[in-house]
Amino acid sequence: MTSDAGPRQWLRQLPTFDRDHLPPFDPEATPAGPAELYLDWLHTAADAGLAAPHAVNLATADANGQVTARTVILKDLYEHTWCIATSALSPKAAQLVENPRAALTSFWAPLGRQVRITGSVTDLGDAAADEDFHARPDGSRAAALVGQQSQVLPDRQTYAEAFAAALEQVQQHPRTPLPTWRVYGLQAESVEFWQATADSGQTRLHYRRTGTDWHKELLWP
Ligand SMILES: Cc1cc2nc3c(=O)[nH]c(=O)nc-3n(C[C@H](O)[C@H](O)[C@H](O)COP(=O)(O)O)c2cc1C
Repeated sequence: MTSDAGPRQWLRQLPTFDRDHLPPFDPEATPAGPAELYLDWLHTAADAGLAAPHAVNLATADANGQVTARTVILKDLYEHTWCIATSALSPKAAQLVENPRAALTSFWAPLGRQVRITGSVTDLGDAAADEDFHARPDGSRAAALVGQQSQVLPDRQTYAEAFAAALEQVQQHPRTPLPTWRVYGLQAESVEFWQATADSGQTRLHYRRTGTDWHKELLWP
């Protein structure tokens, strides 16, 4: 509920973190590269029972600098490449073609943790895309087959009919390919770990890629 004055007062009194129950974070006891630490934090979030701990916010921009962001699921992480999957026909994919720079953010509220990742994005090729597409459950494959992501939908019945037809297709022909389903890898150049602390502050550790190595530095809050 909001007051007559609008949401401002109400927003100010909303809870943020339970600072008495935050996990410890010692930047001096961290690995040389950020992927290992990211996976450690992701495991902690999963073990804590958080819903969709592998949901990440993906921000992209087109050639004119128009920025958009949306949530996607992290599909893999190797060699400091964070992987997501989507339709090549989607607006986000079109933006990545125009401007292959992107940012990912993970936020695990009950743990008071955020990770920010930036870098450049590449299409990881047909084999990765095919493997990811066929690992999806029938319903997810059908939804992808329907396509037209983010196009205007005239009414829900139109989608229901398209989805039913696509579901029948994937059930009868499970190996139906979808060449427009793609996996994109963001090769990290900068990864920042943000941990809320019990004293109402925060600890920030930044990994910056320097050639094949990583440089670690603390950031002012
Ligand atoms: C928790 C969550 C997970 C999602 N995962 C994906 C995903 O892995 N791939 C995807 O294309 N869209 C995913 N979506 C939908 C996107 O947020 C978005 O609505 C859609 O991809 C269209 O984005 P675009 O118009 O910017 O291309 C997810 C949404 C939520 C809320």
